[in-house]
Amino acid sequence: MIDWHSHILPGMDDGSRDTAESLSLLEMQAQQGIDTVAATPHFYANDESVDTFLERRAIAKETLDEALPPDAPEILLGAEVRYYQGISRLNDLKRLCLQNSKLLLLEMHIARWTEYTIREIIELASAGDITVMMAHIERYMKVQNDRTWERLYERGILMQVNANFFIDIGTRRRALSLLQDGGIHFIGSDCHSVNQRPPKIGRAYEIIEKKLGPNYLDQFCGFGYSMLTY
Ligand SMILES: [Fe+2]
Repeated sequence: MIDWHSHILPGMDDGSRDTAESLSLLEMQAQQGIDTVAATPHFYANDESVDTFLERRAIAKETLDEALPPDAPEILLGAEVRYYQGISRLNDLKRLCLQNSKLLLLEMHIARWTEYTIREIIELASAGDITVMMAHIERYMKVQNDRTWERLYERGILMQVNANFFIDIGTRRRALSLLQDGGIHFIGSDCHSVNQRPPKIGRAYEIIEKKLGPNYLDQFCGFGYSMLTY
């Protein structure tokens, strides 16, 4: 099983502070049945260039690799790219996709999106070399109107939710129903730290397995794996 959204790389962002914390996070994920972790540090185009970000990420990964036990989950390198107006003109966007896939984890702002923004997301997704994977959509769900979501789904934008959407009792029913309607494609822990925001993704997968059955979970996970090579 994959954790599709995490901040496990040491010293990259507001996630793991150092190698020791990264190792603890990975151990927690492994104990929850996770064999592959997408490392998706925040990328803010205002703060740094893609080159600088990728250099920092390579160093963080190298440092972590030196300390990794042989049975640690596999780490895929990606980014959580913050949306800004004009993002579709950033040439280097493809380099921020997850590992060798077309998947670009896109973080949106919470306020109601303008028509310009919606069109730009659709434009990104229509370019062909990128598949937009929208980060933790449960955060924006209520603010955007139904037609906006329909348009995004129609254009093949894939949706990621955080594990808590399934774990929190107040949202669990909604999460399961959206999953069954085909509205959720990936689940991530969005873990940042051992204490404040630890990974709880195994619990989300357990809930899905318990409610919808092991075959359903297998199929759901299989779709995710297939998108890594699509
Ligand atoms: Fe995140």
